Amino acid sequence: MFDAEAFIEESVGSLKKQLEGKKTIIGLSGGVDSSVVAVLVHKAISGNLVSVFVDTGFMRKDEGKQIERVFKGKFGLNFRLVDASAEFMEMLEGVSDPEEKRKFMGHKFIQVFEREAVNESAKVLVQGTIAPDWIETGGGIKSHHNLTLPEGMTLEVVEPLRDLYKDEVRKVALALGLPKEICERMPFPGPGLAVRVVGEISPERVEVVRDAEEIVREEIDGAHISSWQAFPVVLPGRATGVKGDSRDYGFMVAVRVVDSIDAMTANIKEPDWVFLRKIADRITREIPGVTRVLYDLTNKPPATIEFE
Ligand code: XMP
Repeated sequence: MFDAEAFIEESVGSLKKQLEGKKTIIGLSGGVDSSVVAVLVHKAISGNLVSVFVDTGFMRKDEGKQIERVFKGKFGLNFRLVDASAEFMEMLEGVSDPEEKRKFMGHKFIQVFEREAVNESAKVLVQGTIAPDWIETGGGIKSHHNLTLPEGMTLEVVEPLRDLYKDEVRKVALALGLPKEICERMPFPGPGLAVRVVGEISPERVEVVRDAEEIVREEIDGAHISSWQAFPVVLPGRATGVKGDSRDYGFMVAVRVVDSIDAMTANIKEPDWVFLRKIADRITREIPGVTRVLYDLTNKPPATIEFE
């Protein structure tokens, strides 16, 4: 049985030794993994940790401000919000290959960090890598962005959650007193909305999926549906629709809701029609470019949780 308190004590102790006197930087996304790492390292070395939230432009709506409120406000972390969205879009616009997206995101991420790290004279980069990330990368299934480091990277990398699975990380989050919205936060892939725009990335399609994500999240919360992950993607291509009296030709959004224990396998949530009809109605009404909403019926395996 996993003991969260013991894990905290042990890891804060060893982080203290490992990071003593070294200025440390973390990419704090507000996901449960990086949040737990940030608080653990803050406990170990406090002001010597700089937590950087990079707004890649591929984050959920208002995510940066929300994370800032929690970590700067409540936990007193040394927090920096860096708006790098223009740089990311410049590099990703027109890219459609999933692995290319992950690599570009990963490299740009590290580039931004290195820049911040130089400004802060940081020597160590701590990351919220957990066991499934490296197991799947090692197995050649997907290159999870937080492991794709460029050659010649000058920062020492420390990964305190390497041996943990998601359910264990959530237990640690609770034990650390992180707020419910963080402890229960759905996993969000490192490359963010870039892998939820299936196929070619354009600013317009990113906005569609960001707006749809907010609707799905609000409706999931409102209906008190508990799930591992619930999210929309925007599919490639267009579909015919009719809005008012005229023909429309718009985007297709697919919604995926799955249950899982550790993300290694996942089962689709059986559709609640009231919920599904409401999100379809809201998405097509509130996001003018969308003409069609679909529900994904595929378990993992054979599908992965994310589409890309
Ligand atoms: P897949 O799609 O591989 O996802 O079944 C398993 C879990 O991992 C999340 N995921 C990622 N997390 N970097 C991350 O930190 C990534 O590149 C990445 N890709 C997928 C996914 O959301 C799911 O919870």
